[in-house]
Amino acid sequence: MNNLSQLFEIQKALKDANYPDYKRVSKEIIEFVEDEKDLKKVLDNIKKDKPWEYICGHAEFYTIPFKVNQNVLIPRVETEKLVGLAIQEYKDKEFDTVVDIGTGSGCIIVALVKSLKLPTIYQGEIKDTEFYATDKSSNALKVARKNIKEHKLNEIIKARKMDIINKLKLEDKNVLLLANLPYIPKKEYKELDKSVKKYEPKGALEGGLSGNKYYKRLLSQIKEKGMKSFTLILETEESIIDETKDIFEEFNPEIIKDIYEKDRFLLMRG
Ligand SMILES: C[S@@+](CC[C@H](N)C(=O)[O-])C[C@H]1O[C@@H](n2cnc3c(N)ncnc32)[C@H](O)[C@@H]1O
Repeated sequence: MNNLSQLFEIQKALKDANYPDYKRVSKEIIEFVEDEKDLKKVLDNIKKDKPWEYICGHAEFYTIPFKVNQNVLIPRVETEKLVGLAIQEYKDKEFDTVVDIGTGSGCIIVALVKSLKLPTIYQGEIKDTEFYATDKSSNALKVARKNIKEHKLNEIIKARKMDIINKLKLEDKNVLLLANLPYIPKKEYKELDKSVKKYEPKGALEGGLSGNKYYKRLLSQIKEKGMKSFTLILETEESIIDETKDIFEEFNPEIIKDIYEKDRFLLMRG
């Protein structure tokens, strides 16, 4: 088979599987496969709705490559804005501790620290700040640790298994909390694309009946710890953002839109 007919075959498989960016992915597949046997395997997986990122084992976030497997969510482009907001907060305020809650692949905290290390983005030193990545899933943390190591940040970012922030001592610290916890309401989860339901971890997506199960728990933990000084930036979704905002009402959350103009983030200070 020549290159052109290969390309057509790949593009047809991608279109049939409803890939929105089939042109980019078809080029990546051509670069990825070594021979016809490889290509057949990839196309079989595409036909079974497996996301390309899980097939090739990596995804790009904030222009940075990350290893991914089915134990972690594929980082979404919408989440990149959370990193931009975190950089801005860090520059303005200087925190003792930064926590990425529900780190998954580690994409948020790695993108943040890599950015802060660039003198073009942040002129100060980050050596006095503690950076934590937490997740309740050991398998997700294995991926996060690989990415932290790959980007040579293992001396800076500590990956810890826990429920939300329950094992961290944060009460006397000035803390930046970043959270992209599961927030899809149970009913909406059932309506998700079949490739998401089949391959991405449910524990990374579904946030209980209302979608706010984990954000309610985050608030309880903040209160139980008696945290005196924190900034929280969280990601949620438009259909439940008013309810998420009500949960954190006492901290006057500000709603921030994502790149698609959808209400997506809450930023608050306590
Ligand atoms: C929506 S994914 C976000 C992953 C990554 N931060 C990103 O933005 O791509 C949510 C993550 O939270 C983790 N998680 C779910 N429940 C948790 C809990 N109770 N405590 C800590 N992490 C949790 C999941 O394992 C998953 O990795």
